Amino acid sequence: MPTPIIIDSDPGHDDAIAILLAIASPEVELLGVTTVGGNTSLENTTTNALKILELANRPDIPVAAGAGHPLVRDLEVADHVHGRTGLDGPKLPEPEQRPHHLHAIDFMAATLEEHAAPVTLIPVGPLTNIALLLRRYPNVVEQIERVVLMGGAVGLGNRTPSAEFNIWADPEAAAVVFGSGLDITMVGLDVTHLALLGPERNEELRGGGRAGQVVAELIEFFVGFHRDTYGLEQAPIHDAVAVGEVIWPGLVETEHLAVDIETSSPMTVGRTVVDRWKVTDTVPNAHVALNMDGPAFIDRLVTRIVSLA
Ligand code: RIB
Ligand code: CA
Repeated sequence: MPTPIIIDSDPGHDDAIAILLAIASPEVELLGVTTVGGNTSLENTTTNALKILELANRPDIPVAAGAGHPLVRDLEVADHVHGRTGLDGPKLPEPEQRPHHLHAIDFMAATLEEHAAPVTLIPVGPLTNIALLLRRYPNVVEQIERVVLMGGAVGLGNRTPSAEFNIWADPEAAAVVFGSGLDITMVGLDVTHLALLGPERNEELRGGGRAGQVVAELIEFFVGFHRDTYGLEQAPIHDAVAVGEVIWPGLVETEHLAVDIETSSPMTVGRTVVDRWKVTDTVPNAHVALNMDGPAFIDRLVTRIVSLA
């Protein structure tokens, strides 16, 4: 039986590739995509999610729009990474489908309630929707199998020296999620920066269907920020690693560790403070990804994307 999942996202180049990976993978059943403001505005993330699902010939998968801004702070988008539309690079037609009539958290609650088995949530953007879901529907935790989120880092950040973007964008929401007691797997920069993909695979990708062509164009744009910032000719496909861990459990090597979220210091706000060496007696609250075979994952990812009709 495929694992039922909901992806909560802010497409976003790597979000888009993560959604395509899920669609291309029989190990999971994508029940819906929810959107949040993050890489770009909620309007853009929602439109981009609809575009990606139609690109993959899956207009049947619902897209429900969620929070347009963080719980407390103002939204600061990442257009320097993903462009004005949040999905700059490929030219995709305007979507024919409309978003689901329910707000993302009501959609998630209804889907969790109705589904016969517990559902795995895969948040790959700021955690605003997940925090709101837990606050609005506290009993929903019974229907959540686990949360496999892209966010945080044991080591350096990427939005600031201390903080990774998804956690930095809404640290208060992250504190709610990491304090929820749910079975959390934290897929942070320590592993996603091992999952690097660049134009060297574009010929193979272009040999696939339209989806492969579009992923090649997404990569060409996405590499730009990473070339300027890190001197790389590849880009980390952050969000796809979180989906990959659900498709192939054990993809990332984890340790059960205590993770706290810094929500106040101006210099380190948004940092995931991971007790890597268990020097405190804080109770572990997340399975923190520490290592993975990045090239092997990228091979699997490209194969799945190329397999999309
Ligand atoms: O820090 C990487 C994360 O921030 C990814 O989810 C990317 O899409 C951006 O949202
Ligand atoms: Ca994202």
